[in-house]
Amino acid sequence: MKLTIIGSGYVGLTTGACFAEVGHEVMCVDNDEAKVATLLHGEIPIYEPGLEEIVRNNVAAGRLQFTTDTPEGVAHGDVVFIAVPTPPNPDGSVDLKFIEKVAREIAPAIKEYKVVVDKSTVPVKTGEKVAETIKRYAPEAEFDVVSNPEFLREGSAVEDLMKPDRIVFGSNSDRASALMKKIYEPFVAPLLVTDINSAELIKHAANSFLALKISYINAVSAICEASDADVELVAEGIGMDKRIGRDFLNAGLGYGGSCFPKDIAAFITISDQLGVPFDLLKEVEKINRQQLSRFIERIRQKLWVLEEKKIAVWGLSFKPDTDDVRCSVAIELVEKLVAEGAEITAYDPKAMDRVKDLEVGSKITLANSPEAAAKGAEAVIVATEWPEFANVDFNAVRELMLSPILFDGRNLLDPGTMETHGFDYEGIGRGSLEE
Ligand code: UDX
Repeated sequence: MKLTIIGSGYVGLTTGACFAEVGHEVMCVDNDEAKVATLLHGEIPIYEPGLEEIVRNNVAAGRLQFTTDTPEGVAHGDVVFIAVPTPPNPDGSVDLKFIEKVAREIAPAIKEYKVVVDKSTVPVKTGEKVAETIKRYAPEAEFDVVSNPEFLREGSAVEDLMKPDRIVFGSNSDRASALMKKIYEPFVAPLLVTDINSAELIKHAANSFLALKISYINAVSAICEASDADVELVAEGIGMDKRIGRDFLNAGLGYGGSCFPKDIAAFITISDQLGVPFDLLKEVEKINRQQLSRFIERIRQKLWVLEEKKIAVWGLSFKPDTDDVRCSVAIELVEKLVAEGAEITAYDPKAMDRVKDLEVGSKITLANSPEAAAKGAEAVIVATEWPEFANVDFNAVRELMLSPILFDGRNLLDPGTMETHGFDYEGIGRGSLEE
C-alpha cells in the first residue's frame, strides 16, 4: 500500500521504516530539511538499535522516501499518518499546535479519498478536532479520521513494531477500517478495533497503568528500606502471580523519558477537564518525585556534605539502549547533585553527545569509560542500568576510587557480589542504610 507519515521523530521514523520493511511504499514528510537530508543518506539522527539498517535498506530498495513537501506526501499516500510531537504545556495539558497545523496543511492537498490516521499520543476527542479542522479548511475533501496509538518503547522500537503485542485502532468508518486492516496484515498480532475516543483513551490509560506499577513497587521499596526487606524478592514474589506479572515492577529512581511523565500529566489534566479527577495518578507522580529525593537523601546520609565531593555517575540516558535524555531521571539527579556543589564525572555509552547540548553538560566532566569516571571518586552512582556496567572489573574500579561506595539507583548489581568486591553497596529497597 502507499502510505505517508508526517513527522520523522521516534514514532514516525520507526513506523515508516517498519511499514516499508513489510513491503508498503512509504513517504515520510518532515519540515526539518537537515534531518531529511541525513535520512536520504541512510543515516538516522537518533540511536535506536536496528533502525538505521532498516532505513538504509528500504531507502535503497526505493520503498522508503523522504520529503519536506507536505502536498507531495499527501498525494502519495492512500493513508496519511500524523506522527508529530505533542509536547506538554506548563500546566501538564497537551500542546496540540503541531497536530492542528498538520490538519490545516494536509486539508487542501486532499484531492481524493484519504484516511488520516493520528499516531501521536493525544487527549481523547482530538480525532474529532482533526476531522473538524480538515473539513473547515477543505469542505469538499473526502476523508475519514482514525486513531492508531503506538505502543513502541525506545531502545526496542523496531522489535516492538515488527512484533507488537497488539494493534489497536479506533475508527467510525468501515471503509477506513478495511484499509487499516490491510496495512497491518503483514504484522502477526492480535487486532482490536474500537471507536476513535476509546482508542485515544487506551494509549493514555495504558501508559498511566504502567507508571502506576512502577510507582507501586517504588512505594513498596520505601517500606522495604524501613523494614529491612528486599524489594527484588518482593517483586519476584508478587510478579509470579499471573494476574500481576513481573514486568514493570523494577524499583529504581523512578520513571522518566519522553512519554510517561508527559502522558500521566496529560491524563490528569484531561480527567480534571472532564470533571472526573483521576487523583490516583497524582499520587503516582508524587511517589515518582519522592523516589529521587529519597535516593539523594541516602547519598547525603552516607557522604554527609556533598559540596566538593567527587562523584561518578554511570548512565545518563533515561533508560538503556537509547541516547534519549529527555526527562531523564539520571540528568535530574546530576542537576540536583551539581546544585549541592558535588563535582560530577559522568559516563554514558550513547548519550554523551546529547548531554553536551544540555545546560548541565557544561557543569560536569564527561569521561570516556565507567572506569575513567570512577577515578578518584568518593562514590559511584548507577543511574541508568546499561548492561555494560554490570560487566566492569569491580576490583579495578575499587582500586581507582577514593572510597569504595556504590549507590545503585537501578538495582543492576548484586549486593552480595559487590560486598565481595569490597564495596559499601546501597541499592533501592534493599534493606536499611544502617546495617
Ligand atoms: C513507554 C511505554 O512502555 C511504551 O509502550 C509507550 O509507547 C511509550 O512510553 P518508553 O518511554 O520508551 O516507553 O520506555 P519504558 O521502557 O516504558 O520506560 C519508561 C521509564 O520507566 C524509564 O525511565 C524506565 O527506567 C522506567 N521503568 C520502567 C522503571 O523505573 N521500572 C520498570 O519496571 C520499568
